[in-house]
Amino acid sequence: MPEQPTTPVPSATPGGGAAPALKAHEHAEIRDWPGYFRAVAGKPARETLLKALELFDREAPSDLPRFAIDLGCGSGRDTFELLRRGWRVLAVDASELGLSLLKKEVPNEHAARLETLLSSYEDFRPTQATLINASYALPFCEPLRFDEMWARIVATIPVGGRFAGQFFGERDDWAALGDRVHHTRPQVERLLADFTFDRLQEVENREAGVTGIVKNWHIFHVVAKKRGNKVN
Ligand SMILES: C[S@@+](CC[C@H](N)C(=O)[O-])C[C@H]1O[C@@H](n2cnc3c(N)ncnc32)[C@H](O)[C@@H]1O
Repeated sequence: MPEQPTTPVPSATPGGGAAPALKAHEHAEIRDWPGYFRAVAGKPARETLLKALELFDREAPSDLPRFAIDLGCGSGRDTFELLRRGWRVLAVDASELGLSLLKKEVPNEHAARLETLLSSYEDFRPTQATLINASYALPFCEPLRFDEMWARIVATIPVGGRFAGQFFGERDDWAALGDRVHHTRPQVERLLADFTFDRLQEVENREAGVTGIVKNWHIFHVVAKKRGNKVN
């Protein structure tokens, strides 16, 4: 959700005009997904997805099908990129609005490679996918259900496949909310014990919201490749 360097923004409208639109993270903080989708409309694909796609493109052709699950796809910024690059995609989200915005924007020539599924992370039973992409998504899983949900993801990715996405760290302000999942770095490393990291980038920064409240972010950006018994 941090899109660019942060600068403080005045919180009031002295002239009495309309209040400025909130930033994406201010909507996400309270799980206001319709507001979030408005705030991110037209944004490009996430860096973690782009990195994973670049790595797949660079590797020798493999038997793995170009099939991805975009878990917590929202209104589709990553799904659109996957489709554009020729992947078949199952886009999953618990928001009906997100999926309908996504479907409305999919170019006709890509529509046959897209399937959507209205599902929570907790109820979703994934089928094998070469890439599971989950951008700013999995930390919103119900905390008590996270471990079983994550075990299903790991089991679903074949050797040579990848996971791309974010985990939230323990020094992120949202860790105090209690309704989302935060990890320490050793925990993130353990979650991905069956993978080789292409990227494990830990970022801590501050972002001022339109309301004037500054949020402390602590995020792990992850791209990781599933390995077999031997390290590949
Ligand atoms: C911060 S948005 C990320 C959307 C998109 N991946 C992106 O990068 O902008 C989080 C998404 O997770 C979805 N979500 C939140 N909790 C969920 C759950 N328990 N199961 C499925 N989807 C959920 C929301 O509907 C929302 O689309």
